[in-house]
Amino acid sequence: MGKKLFDFDTEFKLGIDSVDSEHIKLVDMLNDVHTLLSEGKRDEARHYFNQTLASYVNEHFANEEKFMESIGFPFLDEHRKIHENFKHSFHELQPLIESYDEAAFRKALNDAFTWIITHIGKTDKKYATFYLSQNSGKSPRV
Ligand SMILES: [Fe+2]
Ligand SMILES: [Fe+2]
Repeated sequence: MGKKLFDFDTEFKLGIDSVDSEHIKLVDMLNDVHTLLSEGKRDEARHYFNQTLASYVNEHFANEEKFMESIGFPFLDEHRKIHENFKHSFHELQPLIESYDEAAFRKALNDAFTWIITHIGKTDKKYATFYLSQNSGKSPRV
């Protein structure tokens, strides 16, 4: 009953297939870290978060920036700065996670999840809306 806290399809899917599939992969990876932690595989979880997920975040941001550039999105610089700030925060967290602080790790994971979901629903949505309003619907390569 009532409004859902998070409506996956309307909040998360931007309507650009290549972008949506990268976002789904990001959320899947965050879930994978959570699963590893729940199974007590702390070293694997830590490595996955600090290496695999961190490098996929960088790859996704780079792809997204290329896409925004290719469509002439007018607020690319602003978006790029937001990505840079997140990468910076992520980078700062890494030593804490390496230091086996499980509470800090769980908090970092939750914060990263919240940040990514909010970023997609608010910030990424802006370039998607721009693109979709300019374009009749050809799906781009990202
Ligand atoms: Fe994104
Ligand atoms: Fe973004």
